[in-house]
Amino acid sequence: METQENYPMPRIGDMAPDFKAKTSRGDIQFSEFIKGKWTLLFSHPADFTPVCTTEMSGFALKSKDFEKMNTKLIGLSIDSINSHIAWIEDVREKMGILMDFPIIADIDMKVAKLYGMLQPGESETAAVRAVFFIDPKGKIRLIMYYPLNVGRNMDEIIRALQALQTADEHKVALPLNWHPGDKVIVPAPTTVEALEERLKAKDLEMPTFYLAKKKL
Ligand code: BEZ
Repeated sequence: METQENYPMPRIGDMAPDFKAKTSRGDIQFSEFIKGKWTLLFSHPADFTPVCTTEMSGFALKSKDFEKMNTKLIGLSIDSINSHIAWIEDVREKMGILMDFPIIADIDMKVAKLYGMLQPGESETAAVRAVFFIDPKGKIRLIMYYPLNVGRNMDEIIRALQALQTADEHKVALPLNWHPGDKVIVPAPTTVEALEERLKAKDLEMPTFYLAKKKL
């Protein structure tokens, strides 16, 4: 049985493991590809399969929105370059959607293993549906793993990216079900003086001293 034992799963806070790969848009060195931008690295189980087609065309339909969010897209599956190219062309021809981001041809499963995308209890030969959110410094900030038979949620992928970017820009945290425009959580006071300031503040919604929300 194929195992993950020589490939520890990357975790939130780790630097994104580097690799060289062939993609549908040429060879890449991942550390160069991700430099200075947010990156979503996402895997799908196989080309020419229905759920994957809905997901990858979903990324393609939002590719301009991701660009506006300073975010690059890169897919991956354990398929060949020829398969990727044929699938991209089929989806373009039949559905009028161009998957215009690179898709890694991970035929030797090297990247899938490196990123914990090969989860043998689910499949020994196909990657699960993963999304790695990588920040412009190359750090993994959020990870999603979905099984083979359940598609991801594009609204949640975009919301999570907006939340990460908002948290970084404004040094705040985001509450349950946060969406852009909603109030954000300001960091808890770390001194008695800061607490006293907080208690006097007029612009905070504060049911208790450690839970304070404000409009950005
Ligand atoms: C799909 O994308 O439909 C799929 C791919 C692999 C296994 C199960 C479903």
